[in-house]
Amino acid sequence: MHRKVIAPSVLAASLLLVIPASAASSVQGAPGIGDPYYPASGNSGYDVSHYDLRLQYQPKTDLLEGTATLLTTARQDLSRFNLDFGLKVSEIRVNGAKAKFATSGDHELEVTPAQPLKKDTPASVVVKYAGKPSEFKIDGWSAWQRTPDGGVAAQEPDSAVWWFPSNDHPLDKATFDISVNVPDGTQAISNGVLQSQSSRLGWTRYNWRSNKPQATYLATLAIGKFDVTTGTTASGLPIVNAYSKDLGDNAGAARASVERTGEVAEWLEGVFGPYPFNALGGYVPNVPSSFALETQTRPFYSPKQFANGANVSVVVHELAHQWYGDSVSVDGWKDIWINEGFARYSQWLWSEKEGEGTAQELADWTYGLRAADDPFWQVKPGDPGPDNQFHGAVYDRGAIALQALRNEIGDEKFFKILKGWPTERAYGNAKVGDFVRYAEKVSNKPLAQLFETWLYTPGKPAFAPPAATSK
Ligand code: ARG
Ligand code: ZN
Repeated sequence: MHRKVIAPSVLAASLLLVIPASAASSVQGAPGIGDPYYPASGNSGYDVSHYDLRLQYQPKTDLLEGTATLLTTARQDLSRFNLDFGLKVSEIRVNGAKAKFATSGDHELEVTPAQPLKKDTPASVVVKYAGKPSEFKIDGWSAWQRTPDGGVAAQEPDSAVWWFPSNDHPLDKATFDISVNVPDGTQAISNGVLQSQSSRLGWTRYNWRSNKPQATYLATLAIGKFDVTTGTTASGLPIVNAYSKDLGDNAGAARASVERTGEVAEWLEGVFGPYPFNALGGYVPNVPSSFALETQTRPFYSPKQFANGANVSVVVHELAHQWYGDSVSVDGWKDIWINEGFARYSQWLWSEKEGEGTAQELADWTYGLRAADDPFWQVKPGDPGPDNQFHGAVYDRGAIALQALRNEIGDEKFFKILKGWPTERAYGNAKVGDFVRYAEKVSNKPLAQLFETWLYTPGKPAFAPPAATSK
């Protein structure tokens, strides 16, 4: 949805003087990309192909300063466009010229370039800014987690607005160069490959590169004192893991889990096809939160994930997202099952291969956990609503849906689909319906009813055992 609004000032001006046709037809971009779950997320009118972030962070004060350079292309002539951002901006230049800007809403930056952007023409946008990310709040809440020795940006569906200006929606993916200067003795961890690291004047700069399309919420930054381990996968990709020096009793279990990253990724390649990115790893900062997140190439793990000992299953989950979620991304946030149903199912496949229970057994067990009148069964994994986007039903009922599919079409077709989809859709976006059509095409079976039942119908569905289904 791209709302087209003609600027009143342009209409007024056209009565008085002759203006170029391009200006007369240029429009203002909308402050949202058209996602019904999050109307303010993203913006309309342009695409970003690359973000270059040159940042400096002082852990003592939580001050983040920097310059973001966005390489963009307008999709239409644009007299004004929006960026999503929460910190204080001091200057914006568009194609080298100072632009006017204003803030509106919670975290919208309205940029009026000196010259309108021209349709299909590259434009650079340079934003200079500074601020304390922990002090920027939306509904009283900050996604930036400060730690005793630094800070972390990792959240879904939003975290970018706390640290860089962007078109903050998975529909607009881009490559990233993230350069961060931190006091000597402190590290900056981010996505992709560490291109270089150098110290001067008491500060160390880390230059990270993520060279495949990356959604803004999958960009991550962690500053702190870390122990870093490195390795290489069988296919030669660099593995970089980072563990806060301050993980206490969870330190051993965290390492015993995240150090399995290369092994898990190689196993997943057998199920999903070639790993889609230029690096791997994981990081565990000393944050108080309890979730994990599939930040691209280098997932984020809260220490609490390892409170009961090693948890390789969460590593499987976040690495599965590299194919299902990061390479093939949601088209809109209602399509979250495209991510979470498959990441959960991958954990069941890992259990199956480890001899700790087959996916069928785990699906049966999960199915039996909740009675038919449990509100759990009221959440529709195919359209859970923004308040239930990460509800257990999206994960667990969503994974049972995949077991139901497997039972309906048989292992051969099922695993053909699991591998074919990330290949066919690599680096793109997809709706739940796109997957349903793909599964129908590959299996040559009508599947609309199966997915209607499991993803879109409130209530506890009947779960037929595999023996009773056709293969
Ligand atoms: N995609 C993440 C995962 O399943 C979920 C993150 C949800 N956010 C949160 N704050 N709990 O690994
Ligand atoms: Zn997940």
